[in-house]
Order: sequence, then structure tokens, then C-alpha cells
Amino acid sequence: MEKYVITGRRKLSGTIRMSGAKNAVLPMLASTVLAGEPCRIIDSPRLRDVQVMSDILSQLGSVVRRYETDDGRKALLVDTTSMAEYEVPEPLMREMRSSIFLMGPLLGRFGKVRLSYPGGCAIGPRPIDLHLRGLRSLGAVIREMHGYILAEARDLKGSEIHLDFPSVGATENIMMAAVLATGSTAIRNAAKEPEIIDMQNFLNGMGARIRGAGTDVIRIDGVKRLSGVDYHVIPDRIETGTFMIAAAMTGGEVCIENCIPEHVESVTAKLREVGAEIKEEKDRILVRGPSRPRAVDFKTLPYPGFPTDMQPQAMALMCVADGISVITETIFESRFNQAEELRRMGAGIKIEGRTAVVRGVETLFGATVEAYDLRGGASLTLAGLAAEGITTIEGVQHMDRGYDGLDRKLAALGACIERIREDR
Ligand code: UD1
Repeated sequence: MEKYVITGRRKLSGTIRMSGAKNAVLPMLASTVLAGEPCRIIDSPRLRDVQVMSDILSQLGSVVRRYETDDGRKALLVDTTSMAEYEVPEPLMREMRSSIFLMGPLLGRFGKVRLSYPGGCAIGPRPIDLHLRGLRSLGAVIREMHGYILAEARDLKGSEIHLDFPSVGATENIMMAAVLATGSTAIRNAAKEPEIIDMQNFLNGMGARIRGAGTDVIRIDGVKRLSGVDYHVIPDRIETGTFMIAAAMTGGEVCIENCIPEHVESVTAKLREVGAEIKEEKDRILVRGPSRPRAVDFKTLPYPGFPTDMQPQAMALMCVADGISVITETIFESRFNQAEELRRMGAGIKIEGRTAVVRGVETLFGATVEAYDLRGGASLTLAGLAAEGITTIEGVQHMDRGYDGLDRKLAALGACIERIREDR
């Protein structure tokens, strides 16, 4: 068990480089199954979720190797040539939600897949009905029994699919299954997140014929086979947003490098309302925090709205803002796990259903708190940076799922943060 020990109230300053996007790399790793040839994913972050996906691919018979490019970038080589297994081991399946991404590619390559229901963050129910409906529409016969899902399809056939909700995962799963299907597929009301565009580019690099990603209709013309690809993944916009808030919350001045300013427009707009000064350049953002943030309201929405993955961090910011803020979570049912812990640090938060009302206080105070999920853990870390005294955060394994060296990067900006191993 590891924990963070943070001594707060240090202004962050300096320059920090963002890692590749977790939510782009995970479906890309799954889609290497379709290539049956070596693929290289450059700027692949070192994350526990990436490790789990790599472990699954290895157990299914692939070769996965981490390496560094000549210019010092973290990369992954995945060779699925000798893969022969289509059953995903249950313990790994339960480790993370993204294991469901393997369904489309395994079905596309082997015409068969067997897996159990995926695990993941404790942020409320996360059904997979849209994934299953989409795959059925492509001709898969799917049976759900005793906690397992068995899907089979001799030939997947292109189809017209309308998603009830623009689910990121369902859009990607359907894209991956449709690339090798016979004929054309249209996904309507598709998710428009930047990671979907990155997936389109990755798959097209393998020889797929996909267009429309980034709009609400994605069209896929099936091809007979795909090949390997070398691909640079986009920077992580949630990591970028988290560091933007870290700068704003500590009244610091931080230059965030290797980011795409357009991908964090909704965060930038809110931070400007809060009083931060933000300068956007081609691939970097400079943030100068206000002496005290102003309270503003937040409502999470699908992209390009304010991301649900930034809501817990925004809540931490509002805890020290001047005034009252209303935060509405529209994507997930219970994503306020961090609120109870923030209260231990002196925050004034009232939750009613999917709404949180935050009455800002002048100072938070250090306490021992626990991270229950990935972004909730980031929220507590930010609160610890701004708090008076020492904050101990347990459950750092959650942050390791989605941040490549959160503590290391914050320390490089002058934060007093230590990772401590606790043997229980
Ligand atoms: C992805 C991201 C996650 C982010 C989320 C929303 C990855 C690896 N994860 O998760 O970080 O928080 O998008 O931006 O990319 N839903 C259904 N049925 C389904 C699928 C989803 O009802 O079959 C619902 C969910 O319960 C949720 C909403 O749709 O309420 C959004 O989920 P979705 O966009 O699918 O999120 P994920 O792909 O799981």
C-alpha cells in the first residue's frame, strides 16, 4: 500500500511535459489484435491500466514490450501475430473497465470472444448495453450467462447503428468490430471525444477506412485485412486539465508542454472565469493562478462540454473559491466519492443526487484521507497542495491507474509531495 504525504501551500512553478492519453492508448492496445502484425505506440504512458491491458494481451499470446525511442519517448511494441486465444482471463477483466474494449477486436479477428463483466472505478453503475447492442447489430450472437459474455459471429456485416447516448467506449468498440466487417457501417450519435479521432487515425494507419470521427456520424467501410502501424498517441487532456487546476489552485505559474490547447477549451474557459490567466500556444499552455479563485458553476457533458473526468478536480478548486458553486454531474450516477474526504479537510460541500453545492472556504486543512477512485484521488491531491499543513492520501494505486508519475511531476514543479510505502 502506498500513500502520498503532502505539505501544502507551496506555489507551483516551472515547466512540465504531459504524457500520452490514457483513454487513447487503451483502445489502441485492444485494436492491435486486429493487426496480427507488430504495432508501435509512441508516447504510451506508464500506467497501471496500460500494464493490465498489456498483461491481458500477453496472456492471449501476444508479445508486448516497453522500449524508449531514440528521442527518449516511452513506447510500446505489441505483436499480436501469434495470438490464438479469444477468452479473456477473468481476474484481469475485473481489474479495469477498459478490458471491454477487447470485445470488438477479438470478435473481428477470431469471430468469437468470451469474457466476464469488466471492473473499474467505483463511480456508479457502468452498463455495457450500448456496446452489446452495437455488436449485435453487426451480426454478433451474444449470450450472457453466469457472469460471462459469449459472442460469436461467423461474418460481421456492416450496419446502421444509432447510439442512445454518445458513449465513448461503445463508439470505439463498434468502430473496432466494424473495420473488418463486410460492407459499410454508420454509427450515429457517436461520441466526439478527441480520443475517438485518435482511434480513427490509428486504425486508418493500419489500413482501415473510417471517416467522420469528431462529428456525430462515423462511417466505416469494411476492409479484408489490416496491418501493423507506428503511431504517436495524442497528449492526455485530463492530465493537462489536472495540472492547469494545480497551477490555479496554488496561485502558481506553470507552463504545460506537449498538450493540445483545443482539447481543454472547456477547462480553459472555466479557469478564466475563476480568475486564472491563461495563455495558449501551439502545443503548450501557460497558467497563472489568481490569489483566490472565484466560485463558478460546473456541469459535466460529453465533449466538447466540461469533462466528467475533470469534475472531482474542479470540486477541489471550488472548495477554496470565494463564493458558492453548483456542480452538476450528468454523465455518471455517483461520482462525488471525493466530497466526504474533502469535508475532512474543512470543505463545505452538500450533495443532493447529481448536484453538489460547494461553499468555498479560505483555507483547507491537512488531514488523512482516502482516494476511492482515479479522478477523486487527483481531487484530494490538489486539495492537499492548497491546504494548510500535512495531508496524507491513502489509495495511491488509484492515481497510478491513470497518471504517469503524478507525484513526480508535481514535485518537479515545487510541490512538497512524497510517496510512502506502507506495509500493512
Ligand atoms: C470513457 C472514459 C472515461 C470517461 C467517460 C466519459 C475511457 C477508457 N474511459 O469511459 O474516462 O469518464 O468515457 O467521458 O475512454 N453507458 C450506458 N451503456 C453503455 C455504455 C455507457 O448506459 O453501454 C452510459 C454510462 O453508464 C455513462 C455514460 O453512458 O453514464 C457515459 O459512458 P461512456 O461514454 O461509455 O464512458 P466509458 O467509455 O466507460
